Amino acid sequence: MKIMVIGGGGREHAIIRKIRENPSVSEIYALPGNGGIAGDAKCVDIGAKDIPAIVRFARENGIDYAVVAPDDPLVLGCVDALEEIGVPCFGPNRKAAIIEGSKVFSKNLMKKYGIPTARYEVFEEPAAALDYLKTAPIPTVVKADGLALGKGVTVAMTREAAMDAVREIMEERKFGDSGSRIVIEEYLEGPEVSVLSFTDGETIVPMVSSMDHKRALDGDRGPNTGGMGTIAPNPFYTEEVARTCMDRIFLPTIRAMKAEGRTFRGCLYFGLMITRDGPKVIEYNCRFGDPETQVVLPLLESDLLTVMQAVTAGKLGECPVRFRNGAACCVILASEGYPGAYGKGYEITIPEKVRGHVDIAGAVLRDGRLLTSGGRVLGVTATADTLEEAVREAYSMAETVTFENRYMRHDIGRRALNG
Ligand code: AMP
Ligand code: GLY
Repeated sequence: MKIMVIGGGGREHAIIRKIRENPSVSEIYALPGNGGIAGDAKCVDIGAKDIPAIVRFARENGIDYAVVAPDDPLVLGCVDALEEIGVPCFGPNRKAAIIEGSKVFSKNLMKKYGIPTARYEVFEEPAAALDYLKTAPIPTVVKADGLALGKGVTVAMTREAAMDAVREIMEERKFGDSGSRIVIEEYLEGPEVSVLSFTDGETIVPMVSSMDHKRALDGDRGPNTGGMGTIAPNPFYTEEVARTCMDRIFLPTIRAMKAEGRTFRGCLYFGLMITRDGPKVIEYNCRFGDPETQVVLPLLESDLLTVMQAVTAGKLGECPVRFRNGAACCVILASEGYPGAYGKGYEITIPEKVRGHVDIAGAVLRDGRLLTSGGRVLGVTATADTLEEAVREAYSMAETVTFENRYMRHDIGRRALNG
């Protein structure tokens, strides 16, 4: 089988390495992939948002199955376009991807179907939003409606910060049209849990839970990033919480999407907060998380491609999905300065015995040398019987992967271990 994976980050590297385990796979293409993925797939210089070029490539190369990993192409309808030429895909169509593509949509969906989430108001005019903020409870959270490279959310600890966020999003249009509407919502507190799930719209199978570490600095300080590391499973996701989530959040969500004529097939990601009043939805993503995927897939015992194809065929209910016991930890090695400005072009050295544990996110190949090219450069993942061992092992391997300007957090997993 010829497989095509759309995207080019650490998440896609992890997906590709897992798909390769299936013996019926003859070729994997990554569009665009990156310099590190090039060791595991044929990288093709087509951007993840260039849907006409993606469709052309699939047709000309006889692609049998496509995995559309990032949010942008999903929200733009990449799956619809590929299905139109008969290429089966893993990922939701445009109508279903709106669950991530519009926060106004997802909040209204949750309200209509009684799915627990933060209370909220929607605004289409900055004046009305600023007026509301004069008396709104603080802290509060301001969210751009549309996609914003993961940067559209401001957790405002003061009234001024909330008002600044409204002005940036709605008046200065920092995120373009994504900011034509905003959601202002109640500030929630509690540990965060990420749960990725496979769903074909009828059946939903949660994967092992995980915890992201979004802030740049140790102790969860500093600016938000795309994620500086992950662990799985997440100790705050107890069996009781899992049962509540299944009954009150997971099943109601896929049923709601179906009832709205937006049946979701693919990976539905639940960003949850375990509050004193129980688990609540912070956000939905219509795709695998990055770097959650890097800790979740190594714990998947079942064959990934088989599960994905069952999702596409609407037969997930007949497909066993098993995870191994044990734990995983992924430490992200970034460029010093990220998420602000950073230098690039530094050579990356990865010892041979660590290579199988590294997912490359931001690197290019030049004359056979792997050079840094992004803020998040790579992730080093270890699996072990316990979380403590996985964390220790991930850090001991991470220390052996070197490049100039290397930066990492040193406390990935600490909150999970301390309880
Ligand atoms: P997002 O970009 O949607 O992943 O949100 C970024 C982060 O903002 C989340 O991981 C949470 O830590 C935080 N956040 C989002 N919504 C809320 C909320 N209602 N209350 C408190 N924190 C929130
Ligand atoms: N790690 C969070 C995300 O992928 O959105």
